[in-house]
Amino acid sequence: MLYIGIDLGTSAVKLLLMNSEGEIVKIVSKEYGLSFPHPGWSEQDPEDWYTQSIAGVKDLLEGQDKDQVAGISFGGQMHGLVMLDRDDQVIRPAILWNDGRTTEETDYLNHVIGREKLEQYTSNIAFAGFTAPKILWVKKHEPENFSRCVKIMLPKDYLAYRLTGVFSTDYSDASGMLLLDVAHKCWSEEMCGICGITVDMLPKLYESYEKTGFVKHEIAEELGISDSVVVAAGAGDNAASAVGTGTVGEGKCNISLGTSGTLFISADHYVSMRGQNAVHDFAHADGNFHLMGCMLSAASCNKWWTEEILHTKDYPAEQKDITDDMLGENHVFYLPYLMGERSPLNDPLARSTFIGMTMDTTRADMTQAMLEGVAFGLRDSLEIARKLGISVTKSTIVGGGSRSPLWRKIVGNVCNLTLEIPESVEGPSMGGAMLAAVACGEYPDVKTACEKIIRITKTEEPDPELVAKYEKKYQEFRRIYPALKEVFPKLQ
Ligand code: XUL
Repeated sequence: MLYIGIDLGTSAVKLLLMNSEGEIVKIVSKEYGLSFPHPGWSEQDPEDWYTQSIAGVKDLLEGQDKDQVAGISFGGQMHGLVMLDRDDQVIRPAILWNDGRTTEETDYLNHVIGREKLEQYTSNIAFAGFTAPKILWVKKHEPENFSRCVKIMLPKDYLAYRLTGVFSTDYSDASGMLLLDVAHKCWSEEMCGICGITVDMLPKLYESYEKTGFVKHEIAEELGISDSVVVAAGAGDNAASAVGTGTVGEGKCNISLGTSGTLFISADHYVSMRGQNAVHDFAHADGNFHLMGCMLSAASCNKWWTEEILHTKDYPAEQKDITDDMLGENHVFYLPYLMGERSPLNDPLARSTFIGMTMDTTRADMTQAMLEGVAFGLRDSLEIARKLGISVTKSTIVGGGSRSPLWRKIVGNVCNLTLEIPESVEGPSMGGAMLAAVACGEYPDVKTACEKIIRITKTEEPDPELVAKYEKKYQEFRRIYPALKEVFPKLQ
């Protein structure tokens, strides 16, 4: 049998075809645009997700035995607000996970409603990218759009809705809406009331590995597949990526160096954060729970610096002059806050900066500072986990940025972690395909699927001398944001 995993990302949709043995048969990627209508805002047209996904599935299945396709599932960019009217038409462009327009609404939720109440209702506090503050923003700034809205959904759930006609979501992705009572796995009536919506505007909740429906007849015909192909609920991209790297069960860690940078720690039970909400407390795609720190700009810092500023796409060439003896010695620092920052700062107005340059600073020093700044940002989330008493000594690493051996070395040594590189670094699409396989009964559960499929091909140990050097550098890095915090709002 064949299973399709669809990773509905921010810059592209990535599709992966997996066979019953868990082997990757083919990978396809289709790009789409991202619009920044104001500084700090980030939007996408849901129609692009659909058309590019359909085009992607067609490419993926070209030359394959289409009768073998048994299931489809997803890993999707999280938190995005998609609003539909009574005719199922999209009301306005989706407001994405890295959009920072909701400073006022986030402050209202955290300080007027109060963090304690939010934690009691949802296990989390408000962050600008979460869905609930965006609903409040639309309510205030676009009342006409708000009044027409009858369905609210997340990006991958829009795609699933178009494919199946079933209005569904899964617990992992729903956790990032700030509308789900994560501990009890149900929608929070209180949060719906606070946002001025009703529970019937929200999708039906499923476990990520559960079947929600089948591909609609006319779409199945267009794709050349059977209309008995099962669609499973899928997961937020980070939970899907965790499945795709075997990060399930107690205390396992996965780092994703994608557009965003995330540190994902799985648990086999619900962990109450008791006021320590700088990282997120979400449901996992295996039916359990996880903690996650999310930085808004990780590989996107590298893309911005290399492509927009240095005007090249030759990433290895930019990194080749950064030799081992330069690591831990850089005087230049970089704050990776191109879109503000989520974990742990929760500051949509934070901005990027290079600091510490002198006349002898080179292009390579700046590139190195940018790579190190992202690693320090991940370390910030790791520190929160360590403060919560969670011991993390090793992690898998995936995402486009993890293809750079230099960046992996920097991350491993800044975080003092043994890094395990899985055979496939296609986290979310691999996880999506695995969830589809579980929904079709190919594997009894997600954990077994992980045990049978995921293979680690390489392990990289941190070097104690470099760890010590980076410890000093990290302590210096930590002084920069507090010193500039008051300046950023004045730059808007
Ligand atoms: C996680 C988050 C990002 C997006 C990226 O909370 O916002 O990782 O899911 O697609």
